[in-house]
Amino acid sequence: MWKERKGKLKRAIYPGSFDPVTCGHLDIIKRASRIFDELYVVVFENVGKSPLFTAEERVEMLVEACKGMENVKVSCSSGLLVDFARKHGIQVIIKGLRAVSDFDYEFKMALMNKKLAPEVDTLFMMTSVEYLFLSSSLVKETVSYGGCVEGLVPPNVLPKLRDKFRRHS
Ligand code: PNS
Repeated sequence: MWKERKGKLKRAIYPGSFDPVTCGHLDIIKRASRIFDELYVVVFENVGKSPLFTAEERVEMLVEACKGMENVKVSCSSGLLVDFARKHGIQVIIKGLRAVSDFDYEFKMALMNKKLAPEVDTLFMMTSVEYLFLSSSLVKETVSYGGCVEGLVPPNVLPKLRDKFRRHS
């Protein structure tokens, strides 16, 4: 177990856009928080995406969704992921994998991060089967057409999503 090595605190980071956090993300957060002493859940900008929610809104939703998970710290950053990891003494990057389609993108990011910070490892966790199809993009598209995403996002996220699309329409 990562936790037991060298008697040092084992810290991991779970980065993402979290636009918004889904139950699939939350499942990875719960499982990773059981493996590591401290888990940093950090909202980063993804240059390829234009977010629906501001970084502050995404952090707020994550904080609420992660209530009661004592070793989970939620924040946001606008810099490089590996710089954040180095600054906070984080040894492991956690990424969730749903299907083979995620792999190419995630594999390239893991190799780039390894090139930038060889001392930091990326660890992939398989999604739980009930969330295989789930993504923030699908959730947003569904809600934008009036569909129901109950059970797919944490309860605190539902009204925020509805409100966003009410104001957008
Ligand atoms: O949830 P996403 O959009 O797939 O997450 C991608 C994210 C935010 C983890 C990635 O874009 C990222 O790490 N951004 C921070 C900037 C950075 O370090 N870029 C180099 C990645 S190789």
